Amino acid sequence: MADSNTHSFNPSKYCSAPKPVKINRRWPDNQIVRAPVWCAVDLRDGNQALIEPMSVTQKKQMWHLLVKMGFKQIEVGFPSASQPDFDFVRWLIEENQIPDDVTIQVLVQARDSLIERTFDALDGIHQAIVHVYNSTSPVQREKVFRSEKSGIVDIAINGARKVLDESRKYANTRWSFEYSPESFSGTETDFAIDICNAVIEVWQPTPDNKAIINLPATVECASPNVFADQVEIFCDSVKRRDSILVSVHTHNDRGCAVAAAELAVMAGADRVEGTLMGNGERTGNMDIVTMAMNLYSQGVDPKLDLSIASEIINTVESCTQIKTHPRHPWFGELVYTAFSGSHQDAIKKCLAQQDADQAWDVAYLPINPGDIGRNYESVIRVNSQSGKGGVAFIMESEFGVAMPRWMQIVLSREVQRYSETHQCEVNSQMIWQIFDAVFMQPNDDETPQFQVLSYQFEKNRDVETLKASISDGNDAVLIHGSGMGVISALSDGLRKTMGIDFEVQHFDQIALGEGTDAKAMAFVQIKIDGTNFVGVAQDEDIMSANINSVLVAANRYASTSEAGSRRVS
Ligand code: KIV
Ligand code: ZN
Repeated sequence: MADSNTHSFNPSKYCSAPKPVKINRRWPDNQIVRAPVWCAVDLRDGNQALIEPMSVTQKKQMWHLLVKMGFKQIEVGFPSASQPDFDFVRWLIEENQIPDDVTIQVLVQARDSLIERTFDALDGIHQAIVHVYNSTSPVQREKVFRSEKSGIVDIAINGARKVLDESRKYANTRWSFEYSPESFSGTETDFAIDICNAVIEVWQPTPDNKAIINLPATVECASPNVFADQVEIFCDSVKRRDSILVSVHTHNDRGCAVAAAELAVMAGADRVEGTLMGNGERTGNMDIVTMAMNLYSQGVDPKLDLSIASEIINTVESCTQIKTHPRHPWFGELVYTAFSGSHQDAIKKCLAQQDADQAWDVAYLPINPGDIGRNYESVIRVNSQSGKGGVAFIMESEFGVAMPRWMQIVLSREVQRYSETHQCEVNSQMIWQIFDAVFMQPNDDETPQFQVLSYQFEKNRDVETLKASISDGNDAVLIHGSGMGVISALSDGLRKTMGIDFEVQHFDQIALGEGTDAKAMAFVQIKIDGTNFVGVAQDEDIMSANINSVLVAANRYASTSEAGSRRVS
């Protein structure tokens, strides 16, 4: 055992999957221009793979979701193999749960007694698809069934005949038949074609009454292009192509189930079986959410309602007891989120230029997250990797504060410092708290030292004069200054009256809100003794906001030890 462990990771014991010889390959030039016929197999293949199969309540929940999403074909179980599946089929029929435009499908092995029991389960239904299968790959033939190809073909033909015979006993039902050569992708393609042709001979489908031939990659064993070749050869060679729907059913062992299904549709498949979020045996079935969203993001109507993403996620999680990966394509919690500063910046710029009636064209966001019920809160999240773009986006989208660029840089530095120190993501409330604490009320005590109590601003010809009563925390000080504009007059007054001498580096003001609730917010950066101090203030009165922003910056200066020692001396 120890020896085999030492040598077990050794590729020489594996052989590459055999590839069909393909001449006339056309599928690479094709494009998917319409959605395939979808068949959801969550209640059968998905259910069979669960640690704890779905309860009756969970099955009903899943059924209702699949119908609500718009699936028209739903495989609901394996009634001959499972009593709960049998009972569920009976519930659907007896409780009239199946909408007229929805057809249920049931799976059965190609064995007489099981086929009879399957038809018992379907008694009284208006329309149904009976899906019969047997294994066709060499490993199954040689090691499991120990049978020659002819024996395997006989199993398929007998199964097909039995299905046809049983169906004739139920004249009030519109029957459709489906045959799967299980492990199609691991079967010699010419043999798979032969066995399917044999089944088709039995069923004699017509263009008005098509049979479904389903080609499973039961275990994904080659790259998706190989599967596409197999499907294209199949479509080119199968009999009565106009009387069959070619369906594919891929599993995800190599992580390419969606790619394989997509290439298979390019290669001629009409129908795709899969599950929501890819639940299924081993690594899962083909994920219909991903494939349908892939189509949607290319401008193709997927003919499924995927706008109800949270409902889909919640139902799948509650029925399968499997959590959704946060990076699951399209539906994961983090898939529209940008932490990186440059991504945030690009998203912010593109969103600002994106008109509602234009084709979607936003860097890093392949679709509008709003289409599946996501808000922009989740798009931009801030941690130590983020930059000014993300912080600015949150300040604007959440709090309506469109900061000037220099302020974006100053605030994002503070946010980054906080994130690095606390090693955490910084949510929008925390960003506001940092903004408020650092730039709007920067002193330790709650009351700012300097605050405007009243003011008078006059313009006489070219001279603008400010008279203001300013509280320094204890007393009111009257200042009097003049200059070009209120900030310049205030600067003059503070220098003359209080000995605070500063240069204005940046000054901006914005409106917050509209109408009677509107406020003004002012941002200023002043330089005192070679150091920059930033202040932000908001007020209903724009002049008060301007004056207070300077006073807040001056407070920051006043709270430095250097300023303290100068005041003492
Ligand atoms: O994966 C598979 O081959 C199947 C068949 C029964 C269709 O689920
Ligand atoms: Zn399967």
